[in-house]
Amino acid sequence: MVLSGRPLTVLVVVSLWLLLSCGLSYGVQTDINCLKGIKAELEDPYGYLNTSWNFNNNTEGFICKFTGIECWHPDENKVLNIRLSDMGLKGQFPAAIKNCTSLTGLDLSSNKLFGNIPKDISQIIQFVTTLDLSSNNFSEEIPVSLANCTYLNVLKLDHNRLTGHIPLELGLLARLKQFSVANNLLTGPVPYFGNASITADSYANNLGLCGALLDPCPSASKKSHTTIIAAAAVGGVTVAAIGVGIGMFFFLRRVSVKKKEEDPEGNKWAKSLKGVKGIKASEFSAPLLVHTL
Ligand SMILES: *[C@@H]1O[C@H](CO)[C@@H](O)[C@H](O)[C@H]1NC(C)=O
Ligand SMILES: *[C@@H]1O[C@H](CO)[C@@H](O)[C@H](O)[C@H]1NC(C)=O
Ligand SMILES: *[C@@H]1O[C@H](CO)[C@@H](O)[C@H](O)[C@H]1NC(C)=O
Ligand SMILES: *[C@@H]1O[C@H](CO)[C@@H](O)[C@H](O)[C@H]1NC(C)=O
Ligand SMILES: *[C@@H]1O[C@H](CO)[C@@H](O)[C@H](O)[C@H]1NC(C)=O
Ligand SMILES: *[C@@H]1O[C@H](CO)[C@@H](O)[C@H](O)[C@H]1NC(C)=O
Repeated sequence: MVLSGRPLTVLVVVSLWLLLSCGLSYGVQTDINCLKGIKAELEDPYGYLNTSWNFNNNTEGFICKFTGIECWHPDENKVLNIRLSDMGLKGQFPAAIKNCTSLTGLDLSSNKLFGNIPKDISQIIQFVTTLDLSSNNFSEEIPVSLANCTYLNVLKLDHNRLTGHIPLELGLLARLKQFSVANNLLTGPVPYFGNASITADSYANNLGLCGALLDPCPSASKKSHTTIIAAAAVGGVTVAAIGVGIGMFFFLRRVSVKKKEEDPEGNKWAKSLKGVKGIKASEFSAPLLVHTL
């Protein structure tokens, strides 16, 4: 009885707590904090948020009427999409978005946002299917953690000032259908997106992107070093072979002076000379090539 009573009590308490917390809209307070945070973090020179985002009204679902906010249900303060495109907003990527825990779409395009895209972006917008940060002033590198936003269908980062390489891990985004990093300052190889219909336009106007459906990447400097060293090794082997050859010439001359009639002996020497060449080649090339690996 005691054993069966305890879990029952726990269940009743948990149920009561859930009922109470839902009744007090505890579960969605985070989304209100999210929008309050975004408003506080962004400079809004044209007053789009200032006039519409009024937090004095505490009716359930009141934030769903805010400019640019779409909720899962109009009577529930649970944000589905945030669309704040072309509002002249200034500031860094708003960290408060992390508190919109049910967000699936974020469009901050055509504003004046700057600084880096947060390194922990996958923890901020974990379930987002559409991320549009295009036409802003974002700089630094594209965070590799974007590859952990596994629900992404649309990723638009074009028209910013992003630098460095595109993380090749983005190729792991299996649902990606639309991708653009055009008009940035990116360099290096582009990810391989399998059979996703992504074209060269996605990469236009950067500093030097290559690979996949673009021009092949120039071989790495490491590789050309190896080539030079391999060439040097071949040269060394040739010099050694010539040295050995000259040595053999004089030696053979002496031998042939001694044993002129023995013709098969010449064959033997030719064979052993080949053997010496082989040894020399491995002596020269192997350590040098291993050194460059
Ligand atoms: C925005 O709100 C501030 C006060 O918070 C006010 O001084 C300002 O006039 C408002 N701007 C607009 C455009 O409504
Ligand atoms: C509060 O919001 C609800 C829903 O948006 C609206 O119907 C109501 O008029 C608002 N009340 C005030 C005082 O703004
Ligand atoms: C989320 O909201 C809480 C308040 O409930 C706040 O303390 C926290 O800083 C917010 N998180 C972010 C990332 O802004
Ligand atoms: C973008 O940022 C750079 C500095 O990183 C600044 O010089 C430039 O004026 C900014 N452009 C816009 C449109 O805000
Ligand atoms: C991505 O997710 C994997 C597995 O959950 C984790 O090990 C890794 O640290 C994450 N990477 C980033 C950059 O968040
Ligand atoms: C991509 O290719 C895989 C096999 O290579 C195939 O199973 C899949 O259906 C293809 N997807 C599309 C969208 O073409």
